Amino acid sequence: MNLVEKIIHSHLTQGVMELGSEIVVKVDQTLSHDLSSVVIGQIFDAVQADGIKIEKSVFYCDHNVLCTASENSDDHYFLKTCAERFGLYFSKPGNGICHTIHCERFAAPGKIIIGGDSHTPTSGAVGALAIGTGGLTVAKAALGEGFRFRMPKIIGVRLTGKLRTGVGAKDVALELLRRISVKGGLGSILEYHGDGVKNLSMTERMTIANMSIETGATSGVFVSDEVTKAFLNAQQRGEEFQPMQPDADAVYDSLIEIDMSQLIPLTACPHSPDNVVPVEMMSEVKPASVFIGSCTNSSYADIARAAAIMKGRKVHRDVDCVVAPGSHPVMQKLLEDGVLDILVQAGCRVLECACGPCIGVGQIPRSNGISVRTSNRNFPGRCGSMDAGVYLVSPETAAATAVAGHLMPALELVEPECLEAVSNEPITIINDTLLIPPLPVEERLAVKPVYGPNISELPRRGAAYERIQAGVGLRLGDNITTDDIIPGGSSILKFISNIPAFAEYSFCYVDPNYVKRAKAMGHSIIVGGENYGQGSSREHAAILPMFLGVDAVIAKSFARIHKENLINFGILPLQFPDNETYQIPQQGDELVIENVPESIRSGRFTVQIPARGISFEAILDVSEGDKELLLAGGALNLLAGTN
Ligand code: F3S
Repeated sequence: MNLVEKIIHSHLTQGVMELGSEIVVKVDQTLSHDLSSVVIGQIFDAVQADGIKIEKSVFYCDHNVLCTASENSDDHYFLKTCAERFGLYFSKPGNGICHTIHCERFAAPGKIIIGGDSHTPTSGAVGALAIGTGGLTVAKAALGEGFRFRMPKIIGVRLTGKLRTGVGAKDVALELLRRISVKGGLGSILEYHGDGVKNLSMTERMTIANMSIETGATSGVFVSDEVTKAFLNAQQRGEEFQPMQPDADAVYDSLIEIDMSQLIPLTACPHSPDNVVPVEMMSEVKPASVFIGSCTNSSYADIARAAAIMKGRKVHRDVDCVVAPGSHPVMQKLLEDGVLDILVQAGCRVLECACGPCIGVGQIPRSNGISVRTSNRNFPGRCGSMDAGVYLVSPETAAATAVAGHLMPALELVEPECLEAVSNEPITIINDTLLIPPLPVEERLAVKPVYGPNISELPRRGAAYERIQAGVGLRLGDNITTDDIIPGGSSILKFISNIPAFAEYSFCYVDPNYVKRAKAMGHSIIVGGENYGQGSSREHAAILPMFLGVDAVIAKSFARIHKENLINFGILPLQFPDNETYQIPQQGDELVIENVPESIRSGRFTVQIPARGISFEAILDVSEGDKELLLAGGALNLLAGTN
C-alpha cells in the first residue's frame, strides 16, 4: 500500500478502498478558526452536545484578530465559552495561525485531521492525513460521526535532489502548480515521497503540503522520517512519532517527479496560483507592498532568511514591507535571536501572529497596486482589493524584492553563504500561554455559550421541494472562487456571524446588483462554469446563497469543499453534461424542475425553460449519503433531528 492507503485503512469504518467508492473514516482531531468555528459552536449548542467525542478539537482565533469592531470580539468570546462548554482547546488571538500551531502542538504521523479551513493539509507535513472541509462537516466529525468521502486517486509526487540556495520550498509548490494547474489535483491526494524528502525541513514540508490544495487536491501527505522525529522531539512530543513510509511495491494512480536541484525561483502572477513564471523574467514588476507571512511561509527559518537578506540594507523607498510570524513561539525565537531587530532596522513593519494580509484583514493594496506576497492565493479580491495584482513568491524572493523595489531572485542581491548560515533545525521553544486547554469534564456544564448581539441564528430550510421554479439569478464563467461569492476583508468579515447582514455582500464585486435581484426573485438558481467554488473553504459561500433563496447551482464542475458545503446546506449542486448545455440557460430565464426528490434519487434532472419551450439535462453526481442530506434539506436538519 502507499502511505495514504495505510492511513485510510487504519481508520476505515465503512466502505471499501476502491477508487470513487464512498468510505467513512474515524477522525482523530479537528481544527477550525474564527471564521468557521462560530457555526460549529452554534451546532454544538443547537444539538445540545455533551462535548466532543474525539481525541482533540481546537478552536483557533487567527483570521479576524484585529477586532476593529465589537462583532469580532463577541465572536471570539462566544468561541471561548463554547470551547469551555464542549471540551475543546482554545487558541487565543495572537497565538498564531491555526495550521502552524496545529503542526507544532497537535498533528502526528498517521492521524486523520479534519479542519474547517482549506489549508488543513498543512498538517500533512507531519505525516497526518489532514483534509479541509466546511464547519458543519467538522462539527459532525468532532461529535464522533467520522468523515465521509469518496476514495480519491493517490498521486505520487516523487521528490529527488536538494533545493539550491536561494530556491525555497515555495518554488517546489509553484513548480507543481506550473505543471498540473489549479485543477490537476482534483479528486486526488498527493503523496510526497522519494529520496529528496529527507533534504526538506519540517517547515519546508509544511509549505509544500499547504499549497497542495492549490492544485485542487483533497490533501497532501509527507512520509514521516528522522526529520519528523526531530521536529516532534523539539516540540517535546517525541512519543507521538511513528515512522510511516509507502511499501516498496506501492502503486500510485499517477506519478509526478520533481528534481528539486533543477528548480529556480518562481512567481505566480495575477490572478491564479498556477500562472507561474521564473522570477528572473519579471524584473519590471515593481510592487508597492511586500508581505512575508501566512500559513504557507511564516516559519522561523522563512523569516530569518528574509532578515539575512535585509541585514544592513533598507526596504526600498517605494515599498511597504510587513512581516507576520506564524506563531507565538516563532515570534519569541525571532525576538531572542535578534532577527526582529534586523527587520525593524531595515524598515519592515512587524505584525502580530495571524493571517492578516493573506485574507485582506489589513494591508489592502492601494488602487491598482501591486503586492508581492509569500501567501498561497492571488485570486482577485483575496487581498481585499479587486484591482490589485498579487504575485506569490518565496520569502527569499520577497525579501530581495522589498529591498530592490522590483521582483528579484535573492542571489542577485546576496551571496549564497548569507542564506546558508540560517539554521533549518526545528525551534525548541514551547510557549502555550495563549493556548487554553479544555476544562475538566465536571466543570464544563457550568459554562454557557455567550452569544454576542451580532450572532444570528443559523438559517435552515425544509426538506427538498417537490418542484423548483426559480429564475437564473446569476450566470458566471469558469473558476469562480469562494472569495468571489463572499469576499474577505475586515470591513466585510466582521459580519460573518450575522447572516442577514453578511448576505448583503454576496457576489458584491462580481455583480453589485445580485443581492437585490436574488431577493426580488425569491427563489433562484446560479449558473457556473468549471471549478465553481474553488479556493477558501468558507461555508458562508453556501449559507448566504441558501439564505437568499438559491435552490440549485448548475455548473460545469465544482471544487470539492464547496460542493460539500452546498450539499450540507441543502442546495442542489447540479452539473451540465457538456459545454453545449452550459450555453443554454441565460440570466433571467425562469427554470422549472419537476419531481425533485425522485431526481435526487436517480441523479438525473430535466430542467425546463417554459418561456423558450426547451429543456436540458443536468446531473447530480453525489454519493448515496449526500442524496440523503439533500432529501432532508441539508445536514443541519439531519444533525438536529438525530441528536
Ligand atoms: Fe490564514 Fe491565509 Fe492560511 S487566511 S489559514 S494564512 S490561507
